[in-house]
Amino acid sequence: MGFERAHRNVEPPRDIVLERAASATALGAARLRAAHLLIDDPPPILDDALALRLLDPKAARAIQEHADRLRTPVSRALRCDVVVRSRYVEDRLVEAVRRGIRQYAILGAGLDTFAYRQPGWAGDLRIIEVDHAASQLDKRARLRRAGIEEPPNLRYAAADLEADDLRRQLEAAGLDATQPALLACLGVLIYLSDSAAKRLFDMAGRLAAGSEFVFNFSRPDASTEGSPPPGSAAARMAAIGEPWRTRFEPETVASRLKAAGFGSVEFLSADDVTERYLRGRHDGLIAPKRVVIADATV
Ligand SMILES: C[S@@+](CC[C@H](N)C(=O)[O-])C[C@H]1O[C@@H](n2cnc3c(N)ncnc32)[C@H](O)[C@@H]1O
Repeated sequence: MGFERAHRNVEPPRDIVLERAASATALGAARLRAAHLLIDDPPPILDDALALRLLDPKAARAIQEHADRLRTPVSRALRCDVVVRSRYVEDRLVEAVRRGIRQYAILGAGLDTFAYRQPGWAGDLRIIEVDHAASQLDKRARLRRAGIEEPPNLRYAAADLEADDLRRQLEAAGLDATQPALLACLGVLIYLSDSAAKRLFDMAGRLAAGSEFVFNFSRPDASTEGSPPPGSAAARMAAIGEPWRTRFEPETVASRLKAAGFGSVEFLSADDVTERYLRGRHDGLIAPKRVVIADATV
């Protein structure tokens, strides 16, 4: 039986869902992708025209009215981080499909829209979005309100990366563990505990040979010590119930990935991002210094 018939999307029971709220940071990331199209210079780094349609109807006006606040160095760096990480993984996906990969799992997918704006070459992919059930329910309600269809090659796996057996959840949603897959985990690691991050690396490192794992992480800084200073971004994340929990040095990530079974590990630094995606732009987008994109292959 094919992927489409064997793995139907069902919505989880509401009592499970209502144990937690939909992710506010997922909504924040979608706002940044929408703002990128509205206030940064063309051509876009990531052309995510669906992001705005998933937001509140007044979102476009709010973004335009507060454009000045979105043009501070901190805002530009944050927006650059969010659009570049998605663009990078979609670039990698093109390459992965060329070398025969047919499975794409998006961990902590939030309001990622790749599946809904997928180009023709993605039609043969099995796409699995993983997130907390509450965030998935919220996303699917937003899709319905916006009149955006769920494509037949997409499955949702409701899972808590802290507690659940991710491999089992992915397989239940249709992942064929005998075949390689591309896994994306963008803007998520910082919200996980150290032990959940380690389990995630171990799970990904045991996927079929040729599998690729793209994720980003933040390096430690002064705000990592003790509780976050009042008014800081870290304090705001804690206040909305999604505290930043883990930061890593690239050397630590590299040795953990190697121990987990990955053969090659590459990092994209701020300088690499600038060279690859920001050259020739005049809109002031800045690659954040402390964020690193990792690209590891089994
Ligand atoms: C900052 S958002 C990023 C969303 C998306 N990857 C993007 O780039 O826009 C973080 C996402 O990770 C999800 N997440 C955080 N902790 C999680 C966990 N323990 N299990 C499953 N999902 C989690 C949140 O629900 C949210 O959708």
